[in-house]
Amino acid sequence: MKSLLVTGGAGFIGANFVHYWFNKYPDDKITVLDVLTYAGNLTNLESMLSNPNFKFVEGNICDQKLVESLLIDQKVTTLVHFAAESHVDRSITGPDEFIETNIMGTYSLLKAAKNIWIDIPTSNGNNPIEHHFHHVSTDEVYGTLSADDPAFTEETAYAPNSPYSASKAASDHLVRAYHHTYGLNVTTSNCSNNYGPYHFPEKLIPLVIINILNDNSLPIYGDGMQIRDWLYVDDHAYGIDLVLNKGKIGETYNVGGNNEWANIDIVKKVCNIMDKAFSEETNLAQKYPKAQAAISGKSETLISYVKDRPGHDRRYAIDATKTASELGYIPKESFETGIHKTIQWYLNNESWWSSVLDGSYKTWINQQYNECK
Ligand code: NAD
Ligand code: TYD
Repeated sequence: MKSLLVTGGAGFIGANFVHYWFNKYPDDKITVLDVLTYAGNLTNLESMLSNPNFKFVEGNICDQKLVESLLIDQKVTTLVHFAAESHVDRSITGPDEFIETNIMGTYSLLKAAKNIWIDIPTSNGNNPIEHHFHHVSTDEVYGTLSADDPAFTEETAYAPNSPYSASKAASDHLVRAYHHTYGLNVTTSNCSNNYGPYHFPEKLIPLVIINILNDNSLPIYGDGMQIRDWLYVDDHAYGIDLVLNKGKIGETYNVGGNNEWANIDIVKKVCNIMDKAFSEETNLAQKYPKAQAAISGKSETLISYVKDRPGHDRRYAIDATKTASELGYIPKESFETGIHKTIQWYLNNESWWSSVLDGSYKTWINQQYNECK
């Protein structure tokens, strides 16, 4: 039985990870530490709130004392670090929070972990506490690829291009340094673009699904030929599970879907699935009367080319050979099944995404918060 501290567990990937973990390891204990920024949504964890093995703590990863008290009180031996500012576009308009959370926040967590797991026990003449600090990072630290370049491996030199990826790269280096210098037991995973349930609708795939339902335009940055390697979010959780259980301390592991798509093609794919769903499921037109383009089978007419993102990386692609050969990692979901599941989830969960769009998910948190503290 493990006791995990999951930072950023109310966000997209963190929440999916918590669902995945309790499904597979129901006897483990999970404490989620999340400051609930705009991207943190406690409704993502609603079904966990009555689970006695689950605890939610609203707080900041920069608060070293709070983290130290959680590591002690909850007897945490595994820390899985998701908390971050994660949206590239926001990092371009306002990098400050990215530096604060992604760099200083990770540094603060490392200090807390070292203090509680290594320094205090050894200064009392004891061995360090057995521990594992897993850092969740991104393929964006490797920079951009041209069409013919081989995919990123764990050996690819870092070349981050946005304030987001630069802040993640800095945090990766700090994690590495805490292992080499102080002997902290760390692993890092660098993952490609995720998609799936609970994805905040500022990101491409949920944005497109919801804009089709509201008959709004589908903004394509630049020529739409930028390429991303899409992975169903549960397969990211599965990759982290393998790293936690079989990964070698001090190593980094790439996690990816071997599933490269140009943005315009993925948007057209979503349009086609939506059109088909509206033609086959007659109740959808009643449920989503605004979705006029989808009702007429013409979602693609909503596509609108807009100004490109500054410094937009052209292509990301992950080579996950090391993770496959050393840990046996093979994604379980094909893109075809994953994207259908995701679209169905958004069609079935209007209350989730409409509360995000109108901001009422924050009110829900205020109402529920006393019960889940
Ligand atoms: P997200 O923005 O959906 O969630 C981030 C969560 O962190 C939110 O719940 C937020 O409230 C919380 N948080 C932010 N600042 C905090 C702070 N100072 N203290 C405590 N909590 C804080 O992000 P996501 O898409 O779920 O990404 C999670 C992690 O995975 C990030 O580290 C990101 O870099 C990495 N990643 C994301 C992707 C992707 O496709 N989304 C791909 C690879 C790696
Ligand atoms: P995004 O989901 O923001 O993820 P990331 O920037 O981390 O890869 O964007 C995915 C791709 O889609 C990226 O190349 C930017 C592009 N994009 C658009 O073309 N239009 C949009 O409205 C958004 C949000 C993204």
